[in-house]
Amino acid sequence: MDSPLYEKIADQIEHQVHEGIFLPGAKIPSVRKSSKQMEVSVATVLQAYSLLEDRGVIKARPQKGYFVQDTQMQSVESHDLVTSDTDVTDLALLQRLLKSSDDETLAQFGASVPNSQFLPIRQLQRSVGRLMRLEPEICTAYEFTPGSLNLRRQIAIRMLDAGCQLQPDDITITLGCQNALVLSLQAVTQPGDTIVIESPTYHGVLQAVEILNLKAIEINCSIDTGLDLALLKMAAKEHKIKACVVTPNNQNPTGATLSEKAKKTLIEYGNKYKFTVIEDDVYGELSYQEKRERVLKADDLDDNVIYCSSFSKSIAPGFRIGWVVGGKFQTSIEHYAYVQSLAIPTLTQTAIANFLENGAYDRHLRKTRLNYQENLRHCTKIITAHFPIGTSCSTPNGGFLLWVTLPSNVNVMALHNLAIENGIAFLPGLAFSRTSQFSHHIRLNYGIHWDKTMDNALKTLGKLCQNQLN
Ligand SMILES: Cc1ncc(COP(=O)(O)O)c(C=O)c1O
Repeated sequence: MDSPLYEKIADQIEHQVHEGIFLPGAKIPSVRKSSKQMEVSVATVLQAYSLLEDRGVIKARPQKGYFVQDTQMQSVESHDLVTSDTDVTDLALLQRLLKSSDDETLAQFGASVPNSQFLPIRQLQRSVGRLMRLEPEICTAYEFTPGSLNLRRQIAIRMLDAGCQLQPDDITITLGCQNALVLSLQAVTQPGDTIVIESPTYHGVLQAVEILNLKAIEINCSIDTGLDLALLKMAAKEHKIKACVVTPNNQNPTGATLSEKAKKTLIEYGNKYKFTVIEDDVYGELSYQEKRERVLKADDLDDNVIYCSSFSKSIAPGFRIGWVVGGKFQTSIEHYAYVQSLAIPTLTQTAIANFLENGAYDRHLRKTRLNYQENLRHCTKIITAHFPIGTSCSTPNGGFLLWVTLPSNVNVMALHNLAIENGIAFLPGLAFSRTSQFSHHIRLNYGIHWDKTMDNALKTLGKLCQNQLN
């Protein structure tokens, strides 16, 4: 006997979920919409949805609709980003959060931007002044893609520390690391392709996924061991994955660093399951270890890793100087870069090349890393003393970002709104995933100038958090 209509509909939707048309956490069409689309009654769709709930494929959320469950990739409940004032799209919410994390009138723990005291501003000021005085033609000369040869030479020298032997021609200068990531994704994927991203991940990756019309499978990134490679393997076996975007060193926001063994396994999986690894190493030089961590690209014998980085976290975010080592995708990346921006500012490339050449960078990094470690101790001390019991923090070994897990009944969006009212900004965990699993997490930037105001702001945040629980 033929199976009933509602069962056929349920099978069809379940198939779409398996095919990755509806991703984990995605909202599926409402009952009314499906009824119209499929020209069946509302009651039939309701029966189908109820069957899918029984099968554990979807989950109903009161007044929100039906959302795809994913028991394999995410053991936690997942659904679209929602805020207390709802009706905002993921992107709109993210933009709103990012705006407040950049507002200088607030006590700022938000954007991942180091305070100017941790950047070599004075040296750059002198260098830029000298360049403008002595080489005014720098304003009229285009530095076409792939960018300044001298800068690429300096980068090749620096990358020896990360284990990479490169020629300047292996390197393309980009407008920061974000540009490098987007160019890499453009070179590797087509709209509709599936990629793997870390969960939580840097929000710029979520935005790139959205504008490039990609599907993303979020894979757990733990604060201790980074990306879960067992889940990555499972995803690679079940889906046709084009790329995996990963930050192996000092991940944003968790601070996690993959072990040497895990790095090798990741490269191996990329080769075996035929996906390109897009390595984001933007915090790599800020490692607290005596010797900076090796990068994936250093052990990429099959040329299957694209390496992206920038000087935004260590020299000058506003200069917008990053780079990409594209390997077999280099020509394609350079083509996209050329078409999109023709050239990268000559002045900032030259100023950074001069700064790297004069040897002051390593001294600057050594000092900054010590300052960040001191700030980290101070920040965690305040959190331990002033945040509710049940709060825990990541233990970053580099960078300047702290991932804080609050008690699970804290509503981080309500906390965010209250904090803004009290003149304090941070980034809520919801900005780091398309699912709601980080609804009681916050990310704090501790690369700040600590003074009484910032001390008090962090203590107030702890109090606001505690008040929510009372
Ligand atoms: C992990 C990660 N990748 C890339 C970027 C973007 O870097 P840039 O400012 O150089 O574009 C950031 C900035 O916060 C980041 O945290």
